[in-house]
Amino acid sequence: MAALITTPRLLSVGGGALAELPALMVRLGLSHPLIVTDSFIAKSGTLDRTTALLDGAGMRWAVFQDTVPDPTTDVIGTGVEKLRESPYDSLIAIGGGSPIDTAKGMSVLHANGGAMRDYKVPNDIPKIGLPIIAIPTTAGTGSEVTRFTVITDTETDEKMLIAGLACCPTAAIVDYELTLTMPLRLTADTGIDSLTHAIEAYVSKRANPYTDGLAKNAMGLIAKNIRTACAAPDDRAAREAMMLGATTAGMAFSNASVALVHGMSRPIGAFFHVPHGLSNAMLLPEITAFSAPAALDRYADCARAMGVAEEGEGSQAAVARLLDALRALNDDLKVPSPKDYGIAKIRYDELLPTMASQAIASGSPANNPRVPTNEEIVALYQRVYG
Ligand SMILES: [Fe+2]
Repeated sequence: MAALITTPRLLSVGGGALAELPALMVRLGLSHPLIVTDSFIAKSGTLDRTTALLDGAGMRWAVFQDTVPDPTTDVIGTGVEKLRESPYDSLIAIGGGSPIDTAKGMSVLHANGGAMRDYKVPNDIPKIGLPIIAIPTTAGTGSEVTRFTVITDTETDEKMLIAGLACCPTAAIVDYELTLTMPLRLTADTGIDSLTHAIEAYVSKRANPYTDGLAKNAMGLIAKNIRTACAAPDDRAAREAMMLGATTAGMAFSNASVALVHGMSRPIGAFFHVPHGLSNAMLLPEITAFSAPAALDRYADCARAMGVAEEGEGSQAAVARLLDALRALNDDLKVPSPKDYGIAKIRYDELLPTMASQAIASGSPANNPRVPTNEEIVALYQRVYG
């Protein structure tokens, strides 16, 4: 079957690319954006630089800066009300994955009405809404190029996966200079998130020749630069590699899907407020160990792409090296277990059936090379607890 590929229409990639924003807007025929961001970016100087660029081009803009980490249906609702205040023709999303995912939710609800949960996977989104220009300030989620958004339902605490062309930004500005000031923990967590995107896209049942190259390229860039980006935050070459890795991993998983790690990670994030990249990192080594026997050669390719196994090395040995490398990376980046993070065992155990059913309902585990049963997911959650 042919692979159906979704990507933004325009990408501006490189150091200083933010300055291209007005030209990019003009190319797309856009002139009246609502900027979607968070209070941190609003104070950081990046928002002021962006609005100065728009002012210079004579564009009218407004700012919605009330986005929160792990965007909620409540915040999307407030954002849609803000959108109704003026005939905006576009959304400019600036920040990590959360402002970008918020802008996607706003665009979808503004155009289609109803409630966010109406568009939860596997439901379709009938209309494509206002175009989004995404400007990531972290090297992580890849949301700037993906056809996904993840929104937490305030009523149920469920992290809902919403997918479709309507969620894919029209354009993205991928400027690694915006990541030079990211703190260590954020660099580590978002970096492991993008490594997980690349690995899951490559081993996914929906992987295809188009996404394979992107995923392997991303794995190499991230695995070889993540420690430097954490240890030497102003190392421009490492930051550039991480940003390219995050965006190409985003392109890969947007078109091949993620798998079991993400499926199991979202409920941990939703119930215990663990940052997304960190909950992926908690799971990645053990889920890889569980899944690898079903796709040994594919996981061996990951080890080679990451530079932790030799080209001529057999698959079994390469996979052993991959597992060692993932565990070592977690140790080096000080990734805690759920227990060490402070999650109470009693609450964790109590929620396991709900977490497992939400994981399965997201559809991601079905893309895994080894599709787990509900009981196996519960056992995996127990194994990673620590
Ligand atoms: Fe992710």
